Amino acid sequence: MKSQIERIQEKALGEIAAAESVSTLNEIRTRVFGRSGYFVLLNRLLREMPKEKRPFFGRLLGDLRQMVSTSLERRKSFLGKEGKQAVIGDLDLTLPGTASEYGAAHPLTCLLNHAVAILRRMGFSCTTGPDIETEWRCFDALNTPSDHPARNEKNTFYLQDGRLLRTHTSTMQIRTMERQFPPVRVFGSGAAYRRDEVNATHLIQFHQLEGLYISKDVTLADLKGTIAFFFRELFGQEAEIRFRPHFFPFTVPSYEIDVRATMVGNGWLELAGCGMIDPAVFEAVSTKRGDQAYSQETVSGFAFGIGLERLTMALNGIADIRLLMENDIRFLSQFR
Ligand code: PHE
Repeated sequence: MKSQIERIQEKALGEIAAAESVSTLNEIRTRVFGRSGYFVLLNRLLREMPKEKRPFFGRLLGDLRQMVSTSLERRKSFLGKEGKQAVIGDLDLTLPGTASEYGAAHPLTCLLNHAVAILRRMGFSCTTGPDIETEWRCFDALNTPSDHPARNEKNTFYLQDGRLLRTHTSTMQIRTMERQFPPVRVFGSGAAYRRDEVNATHLIQFHQLEGLYISKDVTLADLKGTIAFFFRELFGQEAEIRFRPHFFPFTVPSYEIDVRATMVGNGWLELAGCGMIDPAVFEAVSTKRGDQAYSQETVSGFAFGIGLERLTMALNGIADIRLLMENDIRFLSQFR
């Protein structure tokens, strides 16, 4: 029994000295003093001994208990101190702290917010629509014939079920007319997708801001006045606005809008498309709705679509459109 006690003592003290954490110490304590630990075992052996030998071994056992307990306690307090030391050891309270970085809105978002504020002042309210759309809303309802090049798989991302990634935000015009009665005056913004080759001026995903106004007796003068007000608010009162005749399947007449302003260099910048809603669009919507709320006899309207990337680039002197998508903090932090 004596050698047994000595072996346990040696083993326990060695383990305690090597323990690197309080939880290891707790494990050792259980192994020695626990319900099925060494001490229970040794005590049982002690009780089975002849009476005259018990005092001697009893003392040995007592010594062992004392020694193991004390070294467990010592090691525990040592580990505690050292742990704290590891955390605060090098702490220099006189050093300045690490400042946390403030985020900021992306330049595209800044422009959008500004543009939206202007539209809201003119009574436009916000509408939305999903990036994944039906061919009908993206093309058919917008009077785009099935052989139009924009509908080609080379230009548009189609999903397997026949839906597509919208190629413009004009889909929101259709969505609005499907569910709302005129008059409507809405804007909607979001991503549009085209299968272009990516370069300094093209991305496959870009952003547009769409506007739609339909009421009684809306004329081309309303369109021009709204657009002119919008861009003068955005670029300053001296901004020049030019309506260049163009073609879109869903508006007639159609125009591209060029702007010249000191804020965006000296040349004319092509920034948007617009026009009066084509009667064929009213007809497609009426068929879908099954009523005459959008009969071309009673309502007329205009729509416009503004490309947000090009405008952001012009306003901020950004030469490569890809910078707007790459999320490089060195680029973005310039706009804080
Ligand atoms: N959807 C057109 C485009 O993406 C822009 C546009 C919108 C033109 C509304 C006319 C009216 O190019």
